[in-house]
Amino acid sequence: MAIPDTFLEELKERSDIVDVVGSYVALTKRSGANLFGLCPFHGEKTPSFSVNRDRQIYHCFGCGKGGSVINFIMDIENLSFPDAVQFLARRAGMEVPEDAPDENRSRRSRMLELNRDAARFFHAQLMAGTGRAGQEYVIKRGIVPMVKPFGLGYAPDSWQALTDAMTRKGYTPQELVAAGLARVGKNGGFYDYFRGRLIFPVIDVRGSVIGFSGRILSDGEPKYLNSPDTLVYSKSRSLFALNLAKKSKSGYILLVEGNIDVVSLHQAGFDSAVASLGTSLTADQARLIARYTKQVVICYDSDAAGQKAVQRAIGILQPLDLQVKVVAVPGAKDPDEFIQSSGPAAFRKLIERSDSQIEYRMAQIAGQYDLTDDAGRVRYLQDAARLIASLTGSVEREVYGMRAAEKAGVSKEAFMNEVAHVRKKDAAGAKRQRDREETAPLRAAQPQSRALRYENVRSAVAEEGVVGLVYRFPEMFGALPLTGADFTAPVLGRMFDSLTRRAREERSLSMAALSQEFSPEEMTLLTDIISRGGVSASDAQRAMSDYIEKIQTEKEKAGRADDLRGYAERLKRTKGYGSKDG
Ligand code: UTP
Ligand code: MN
Repeated sequence: MAIPDTFLEELKERSDIVDVVGSYVALTKRSGANLFGLCPFHGEKTPSFSVNRDRQIYHCFGCGKGGSVINFIMDIENLSFPDAVQFLARRAGMEVPEDAPDENRSRRSRMLELNRDAARFFHAQLMAGTGRAGQEYVIKRGIVPMVKPFGLGYAPDSWQALTDAMTRKGYTPQELVAAGLARVGKNGGFYDYFRGRLIFPVIDVRGSVIGFSGRILSDGEPKYLNSPDTLVYSKSRSLFALNLAKKSKSGYILLVEGNIDVVSLHQAGFDSAVASLGTSLTADQARLIARYTKQVVICYDSDAAGQKAVQRAIGILQPLDLQVKVVAVPGAKDPDEFIQSSGPAAFRKLIERSDSQIEYRMAQIAGQYDLTDDAGRVRYLQDAARLIASLTGSVEREVYGMRAAEKAGVSKEAFMNEVAHVRKKDAAGAKRQRDREETAPLRAAQPQSRALRYENVRSAVAEEGVVGLVYRFPEMFGALPLTGADFTAPVLGRMFDSLTRRAREERSLSMAALSQEFSPEEMTLLTDIISRGGVSASDAQRAMSDYIEKIQTEKEKAGRADDLRGYAERLKRTKGYGSKDG
């Protein structure tokens, strides 16, 4: 959602940071323009949390959190950016403009109304005598108690039932088509998209009905029919039952393949089950999950396709820092079948004993080879070593390494040697890659003006970063362990000194003021540096320490080079002395 800058400016103006923060934190001390209090984001006994009324920012010198009033609300209320804006707007009595033009917005809300009315219609059909076929089906599947909580419905086996009912309510057939509920026939007439199916409404986390899945009641194709993507529905960004699962207290999200799996699991008490609606898990869906939990338990179908999908899902979930566990349902094709045959308690046991993904993957690898055979063992060892070499923790590597070695009947030492070998190869490959990546931008990083050529571009890039951060967040970086003299690029050093001095003296950092100190070429460079932006206030602290570290590393390298040169010089002199002597 793009909220106009003008609106954000006004919102900030009307949300004085001292007032806003003051309602969460007692700001008991004052020093210049800064007020101090105990940081709400980390435990402390003496105040290191500061609020600056002039600059309308906050910063904690203890934990490094800081930023604008909006960042503060995001942090303290644990809200996303748009929600924090919404929160402050309500407080300030303002209305957040939506980026969608009015017409679009009303089309969306009208489509959501239509969806809701359609869901009510389907549900009423299932409850009424006309829905006999649907009723028999939910009885057969054993999910009668879930009809209400999921708002399940029945689409009559008729070409017009929904279209008729909705047009009677004032919707046009075209609106039904746009919502994916009807289609245009060859003769130009309209017919219902869902016919003779059990209907699962897809409800988003705000409680809006955004789409539908419909399961055929008998054998037939396709087994499931899903709403097409519409103005309000994107399948790849939605998860079935997340509206219910987000309220779960289980501490994890249970990710399954099918609609029926979800319903069945909820009925059995696993109220955090969601499904990715037939598509294999997408990155958007994974990010959605990550907003609600830190732990995902995957329980896909037992067939080969399901197990392949597990591997893909792990690859998508792991980079989001989610802890992933995998559950297999022995003797059943999917979790629904398992629950129906073995009961909820047995499923709970499976979850509790569920393998960490690494154990799961090791079992997978073991399953591929015949370990009674020498050739099979060798290939198992190679695969397992590759997997274990990819683990970042050395303890983990030891533990799993021992197990893999045992399994293949080789000594742990031999196995760990193989792991070390793989790691060395990987590290060399990664270094080559880094070198390639690092030198390409270096050439591009040189200033436009030849007069300002950087001697050590690696360090200069970090120095530019420091200058940019000091310019954008001057109050955050009052006392850095750095002076202009530490910079390898003199011009950047001068910029740094000037900016920090001005910030300390609370003098202007405007371009006009700075242009009195710097040449036009230098000003071009400075504008270029600060217009790169990128880092947000909340990341500024970390970015700064990364830059400083980089500068220091480069300095050490140069120091070593100097030492080496000095050493070489001394060596030459001694040699000269020696040769003269000898
Ligand atoms: P399955 O074929 O495993 O169905 O598809 P299921 O969930 O076990 O259903 P039952 O138990 O036979 O009734 C898993 C999921 O893939 C999507 C659906 O979301 C389904 O729940 N799917 C499947 C489709 O979207 N279209 C299809 O034709 C089939
Ligand atoms: Mn299934």
